[in-house]
Amino acid sequence: MDAREMKIKAAEAALSHVEDGMRLGIGTGSTADEFVRLLAEKVAGGFRIQGVPTSERTARLCLELGVPLKSLDELPELDLTIDGADEIDPQLRLIKGAGGALLREKIVACASARMIVIADETKVVDILGAFKLPIEVNAFGLVATRHAIEKLAARLGLSGDIVVREASDGPYMTDGGHLILDASFGRIPDADALSRELNAVPGVVEHGLFINIASLAIIAGPSGARVLEA
Ligand code: A5P
Repeated sequence: MDAREMKIKAAEAALSHVEDGMRLGIGTGSTADEFVRLLAEKVAGGFRIQGVPTSERTARLCLELGVPLKSLDELPELDLTIDGADEIDPQLRLIKGAGGALLREKIVACASARMIVIADETKVVDILGAFKLPIEVNAFGLVATRHAIEKLAARLGLSGDIVVREASDGPYMTDGGHLILDASFGRIPDADALSRELNAVPGVVEHGLFINIASLAIIAGPSGARVLEA
């Protein structure tokens, strides 16, 4: 089974948690895209959901495939969010944001009664941090914000490059018009403390550590899908 087939397996398993009439947060990324494609087939067959997308990219795919959308302001309480992740630890703490959608992803997931993560088994780790941690920041005061992050990281025994994410035509801009700093901390032994400290830095809009948000992860490997519970 190749990587795409594993993503489809996880997305298929997640679809069985979606009930007719649900208000659904819809994630961002290649795994979430597979979920949208399967969901669209069900919708075409008469299944009713109201979706809230976590990015402009996901909104475009949903509109293209006929998945009905609402804004989060129209549907501020959701039943379920299905989304991918970059890393998942045994407590279902996540690193997210490789696709740059972490702010909307976190807002939508936290507005949902449940969040189910879908991923292939390469995303499962014992300790978060091999993957770069995306930190969404306001462009104003970028250098000061980065210094503040470096200082708090040092207090927590973390070091590593913190670089502004680039796109082909200049700095990468999120859907909210912010920049992303990608922090290569390596292993993060106390992700909870890092999350709390980052939340307290002025200029940090959001970060990619999702703690106590996901309740279930569906992990697909060559021999099928397994479930991790918080
Ligand atoms: C988007 O900002 C990310 O949080 C994605 O959910 C995450 O990067 C997973 O993407 P893939 O499913 O493409 O690996």
